[in-house]
Amino acid sequence: MNENIERCLIAENEIKRRIDVLANEILEEMKEKEFMVIFLLKGALVFAADLCRRLPVALEIESLNVSSYKGGMESSGVIEFLDTRFPDVKGRSVLLIDDILDTGRTLHTVSNKLNEMGVSQLRRCVLLSKDKKRDVDVGVEHVAFTIGDEFVVGYGLDYKGKYRNLPYVGILKKDSI
Ligand code: XMP
Repeated sequence: MNENIERCLIAENEIKRRIDVLANEILEEMKEKEFMVIFLLKGALVFAADLCRRLPVALEIESLNVSSYKGGMESSGVIEFLDTRFPDVKGRSVLLIDDILDTGRTLHTVSNKLNEMGVSQLRRCVLLSKDKKRDVDVGVEHVAFTIGDEFVVGYGLDYKGKYRNLPYVGILKKDSI
């Protein structure tokens, strides 16, 4: 375990097992054999890479670079699209993947944008959902794990740009913050 991690919340093998189940759920729901995955950088990178490799269909994989945190522990509340180019989603069936559902603002904003751009079917999937009241309501069809309202790192999630590479989800030691 990394020396700055207080405790592991979700172990690597638990994540693997859950993703297998989730992939089957998604395959059953996305009736179309070909769909587009859009994952949000950078937090969903690790989760999306593992999940997509368990979806044995002809996927198109796109990313969107969206920022809400400025590297710390609090969401700025303002969602910025950082890409200059947007994937062509008109008439497409899209699975939107993010790392964590917290205030709900990110998924809400991105979902609205995708709907405005004419997606035919939109489904959302997150690795983690914090068990708390959201600032905005957003429907998420697939959740791998529900956690308490605490700040987590690892498996794609960062603190000030670090710890994304940890293969598990964990809680930072107080003196590492
Ligand atoms: P919202 O509040 O828009 O949050 O639902 C989504 C984005 O906020 C970041 N986030 C976190 N990042 N540990 C992190 O490393 C956390 O506990 C955490 N909570 C929210 C994340 O980028 C997510 O996409």
